[in-house]
Amino acid sequence: MSLINCKNLTVAYEGKTVLSNLNFEIEKGWRVFVIGENGSGKTTLMQTMLGLKKPLEGKIIYGDGLKHNDIGYLPQQREIKKDFPASVYEVVLSGRLNKCGLFYTKKDKQAALESMAKLDILDLKNNSFKDLSGGQQQRVLLARALCATNKILMLDEPLTGLDSKTSAYLSSLLLDLNTKHEITLIIISHNFESTMNLSTHILHLNDNQVFFGTTKDYKKTTYYKLMGGK
Ligand SMILES: Nc1ncnc2c1ncn2[C@@H]1O[C@H](COP(=O)(O)OP(=O)(O)OP(=O)(O)O)[C@@H](O)[C@H]1O
Ligand SMILES: [Mg+2]
Repeated sequence: MSLINCKNLTVAYEGKTVLSNLNFEIEKGWRVFVIGENGSGKTTLMQTMLGLKKPLEGKIIYGDGLKHNDIGYLPQQREIKKDFPASVYEVVLSGRLNKCGLFYTKKDKQAALESMAKLDILDLKNNSFKDLSGGQQQRVLLARALCATNKILMLDEPLTGLDSKTSAYLSSLLLDLNTKHEITLIIISHNFESTMNLSTHILHLNDNQVFFGTTKDYKKTTYYKLMGGK
């Protein structure tokens, strides 16, 4: 059974349809990249897949025992308060909020430390989040998303605004999480080159589902050339 099955999905804001009749299934272990112009509905779709927004029509079915709180989520940067008065550790640990009861458990704290180690930010543990550089903040927020899950990460433009070195580092880390730790990735990206290098599957949106399939098949389409592919 697929991890996420999106069936005849239509999503709207106050009667204005953003996406209509989407149909796709995501299997465990895939690296699905969601692409499309600004305003094409990528973030809206991700929020719907997370259960944060209700579809107007159709449904999203989780398989393989997946639950809402098994998903690690990195929101798009414009939705994040960057002057949040907390330490790096506190921000990462807050990724476990959906999992814990009233208090963080030993397991929650362990998961936060492990994901900080994976992102190589243990040395920033006690630093104030708001005083970090944009790239460091992005790494912390990725660690926050990661400590919520060992199954699936949904990342909304994780590499936007990063220099090429940090971007390459995070790209290889994401690849590692997928290949070594079997974490399924759903990533929204405007960077066409890294999308083509990292993805196994592409979902191309333009108010509608323009394409869903393997990256190999996408490269045979006219959309690929229109997006600047060679
Ligand atoms: N909270 C909201 N209320 C009403 N309309 C919204 C809301 N959020 C988004 N929209 C509209 O829905 C459409 C899709 O927006 P969305 O943010 O999903 O696009 P996107 O593909 O993520 O764009 P970008 O690449 O700029 O991040 C846009 O027309 C946007 O104006
Ligand atoms: Mg968006």
